[in-house]
Amino acid sequence: MMALPHVNSAAVAVVVSLLAAVVIPAARGGSGTDNCTAAAVAAPAPLALPQIHWLPVEWRQWRDAEISRILQPTFPLNGEMLLCKDQVVERSAAAYAGIEAVLRAKPDLFAPTTDLGRAMGPFVAFVKAQHWMALRDAEDQPTHALGMEISDRDYYDYAIPFAELPPLLKSPEFLQHMSTPATYKDAVDQIEAANARLPLANRWKVVPFRSQFILSVDTITYGRMLVLIPNLPAPDGGTIDQWVLFAIATPEMDPATEILSVSVIATHRPAKAPGKVATYGLDFMRLKDAATGKITPTAVVRLPSDSPHKSENCYDCHKAAVIPIHPKVEYAFAPSGALIEKPANAPSSLGSINELIKAYGPPDFGRQLAAAYGPSMGPQHRPRLDAFLAAAAAGTGIGSASYARIRKAMECSSCHKDFAPINYMQAARTAQEVDSFESRQSIVQTMIERGLMPPDNRLSRQERKALWQCLSKEYLDLPSQTGVFIEWLKGPQD
Ligand code: HEC
Ligand code: HEC
Repeated sequence: MMALPHVNSAAVAVVVSLLAAVVIPAARGGSGTDNCTAAAVAAPAPLALPQIHWLPVEWRQWRDAEISRILQPTFPLNGEMLLCKDQVVERSAAAYAGIEAVLRAKPDLFAPTTDLGRAMGPFVAFVKAQHWMALRDAEDQPTHALGMEISDRDYYDYAIPFAELPPLLKSPEFLQHMSTPATYKDAVDQIEAANARLPLANRWKVVPFRSQFILSVDTITYGRMLVLIPNLPAPDGGTIDQWVLFAIATPEMDPATEILSVSVIATHRPAKAPGKVATYGLDFMRLKDAATGKITPTAVVRLPSDSPHKSENCYDCHKAAVIPIHPKVEYAFAPSGALIEKPANAPSSLGSINELIKAYGPPDFGRQLAAAYGPSMGPQHRPRLDAFLAAAAAGTGIGSASYARIRKAMECSSCHKDFAPINYMQAARTAQEVDSFESRQSIVQTMIERGLMPPDNRLSRQERKALWQCLSKEYLDLPSQTGVFIEWLKGPQD
């Protein structure tokens, strides 16, 4: 008889009250996001290790019990319990260790053509993809924090031919200009001067803005300057777009604040595979030599292990290669060169920039095992009973007259299934997703509630709220451990 996960409700109550007092900075990188590893969090007891002689029915029981253990939420937010990313990673790693031991003796045990293979395949793929983020070196530092089969350092070699900053953005003069708000405008002027020599299709675009979502990787600022470099020639004859996101000081910040991070996503349209877009992402820190003052962008995954800066799995949030940019504030430069809020009537290139993402089509994340993160939120052709909608939309004030509109809007998969499945982590309720964001809401919730997704919808504010609640409950309802994601993890039903 194997031990089933057991949660002691008194222990949970203690954890809830302890955690309620913890204030978490909204940050992507650094220690701020490591929010759930406090010893106070009750970890469900690990299960029995799998045995090589198990019958399929025993494997299925173990799988189902592991799913409840791995997806046990422990982080309280507004009366709800959310998942902790790091715990899902650690628990998945424990499950995968058991599987790996058996697979060493019997490598084809889960061959995809067998019933057992079909029943176990999605679960094994998920825990395998998660377990990489738990791997540590001798100094207890993560080696695969980007969530790939190859180490972060090997990923650097793989990605750098595409994600290397272009010479202008690496030049000492440009980086000097970008190091203080007084000269941001000079940096942009350097880009504009270079642009004047380029054909229209190759001109760089610059958009300074304040993120509505998330602090920079160096956990300092919500300010950003996007530099979009389109149609660079690739060695294979295809083209590359580089999306370079500098962290910058916002106008209200102390101008002396040292800001380090700059992130790059490169999308490569290969010459030989039209309609495909290969994606590469790296974070860099602009490190200043104390003696010479020279600034050198250094990839975070190559920093020494005692560095406070960490990159995380880009695919946890980036489901399309590039996340559309909907800033809290878009900035412009005043004649004095100071960064100011963009006047409402001044033109913005963000609309045409976001349009590019659609044109890329389905992204290919290369060494990232994207298929191991589950199906998209909002499947097509799924029956959605009135009773389900009524329960899920409780508190939003909508009535049955809205159900038909909500049902239709729930079919996110009609676009996202192949293009960019909205899957784990984005589609799950996690402390990481919620606490990384200033609004304390996930990207998906924000996109839906602000009316950005599905595109061109005419839902009322209450209907949008109901849509989010219905989709979230349908995808992964943590209290009842049901939903599209869990059904996928359990494989085809027999
Ligand atoms: C916790 C979620 C999250 C993670 C993890 C994440 N990003 Fe992002 N990223 C965002 C959001 C949200 C935006 C959109 C801009 C904004 O509103 O701040 C964005 C935007 C960007 C952009 C500007 C282009 C675009 O997509 O809009 C780059 C470049 C970027 N991220 C790089 C990375 C890299 C490289 C990684 C992994 C090493 C990564 N990001 C991981 C949330 C995340
Ligand atoms: C008509 C097609 C279509 C439908 C339906 C649709 N989307 Fe999108 N979605 C897009 C496109 C195209 C983008 C890329 C950028 C853009 O155009 O804003 C996108 C981008 C997104 C993103 C940001 C991508 C990322 O990497 O995080 C999220 C989140 C998202 N959609 C969620 C949803 C949800 C949730 C639904 C269902 C309620 C939905 N979408 C329905 C077309 C669609």
